[in-house]
Amino acid sequence: MDENTPKSVLITGCSSGIGHCVAGGLRNRGYRVFATARRPGDVQRLTDEGFESLLLDLDRSETIASALAELLERTGGRLYGLFNNGAYGQPGAVEDLKTDVLRAQFETNLFGWHELTRRVIPLMRRQGEGRIIQNSSVLGFVALTYRGAYNASKYALEGLSDTLRLELHGSGVFVSLIEPGPIKSRFRANAYEKWRQNIDPEQSFHRDAYRAMAERLQKQGPAVPFTLPPEAVLKRVIHALESPRPRPRYYVTFPTYLFGTLKRLLPARTLDRILRRT
Ligand SMILES: NC(=O)c1ccc[n+]([C@@H]2O[C@H](COP(=O)([O-])OP(=O)(O)OC[C@H]3O[C@@H](n4cnc5c(N)ncnc54)[C@H](OP(=O)(O)O)[C@@H]3O)[C@@H](O)[C@H]2O)c1
Repeated sequence: MDENTPKSVLITGCSSGIGHCVAGGLRNRGYRVFATARRPGDVQRLTDEGFESLLLDLDRSETIASALAELLERTGGRLYGLFNNGAYGQPGAVEDLKTDVLRAQFETNLFGWHELTRRVIPLMRRQGEGRIIQNSSVLGFVALTYRGAYNASKYALEGLSDTLRLELHGSGVFVSLIEPGPIKSRFRANAYEKWRQNIDPEQSFHRDAYRAMAERLQKQGPAVPFTLPPEAVLKRVIHALESPRPRPRYYVTFPTYLFGTLKRLLPARTLDRILRRT
């Protein structure tokens, strides 16, 4: 490949938030960005914004296959970077989560990512280079109340990514996890919708606590201190794509650094006491 050919990067979940910001930031840096979204209207909007946009719904295998096939057709079979990003948070106490609701959370946040990544690995191995960047979360290593489904999906992602990193050692393909704390995006608004769809607060032991949670989810602007704009994640994605030694983990925001340190230092019961109040 000609040295001047821009490296291509595939990003999932570009309709809003971090995915949209990273797509724009990487394009400005000279990457050939394939900004994917799951709804045709968003694919059209992204195209109007000048992106090469493809339909990719992580819950629908056929769109994972067709988006990747189209990308490879356009790039002559090459893909340098995959930013797995599209996901949502399903709020609700563990005892209030129907098993199908938990399954749906894993379908999008883990199985869809796995399916796409599996399709990409053989071609990255053949190229002898590639970067797989997983947008995890501080909730991939500490738990909070009413985040059980999301916590479980991100903890699972951390395990799968740690194993994959070991298995790809020496192949020229690197796996990095990004662990943001609160980032400004549509995440809370989308989580509120999932809560309304799938949790019945009136039947729940937790209904009083849910009222406060619903208020927080509907709040405009930063609902928690230390919220950063999505550009904070973009910075780490650029490092993971461009460093000769990308890091296994990138913390983003003060809460991630804080809880990362506390998790290493404190006994589980002491950490629980802090997390219960967070
Ligand atoms: N915001 C935070 O505080 C925060 C903190 C830590 C980690 N993260 C992680 O950051 C990533 C991006 O979230 P965000 O904060 O940017 O929130 P966001 O604005 O809600 O963006 C999430 C994106 O994922 C897409 N998505 C949802 N279901 C999908 C599916 N089945 N197939 C393909 N795409 C799907 C959404 O598309 P639709 O518009 O069609 O729903 C949207 O484009 C997620 O992995 C999230 O876990 C966020």
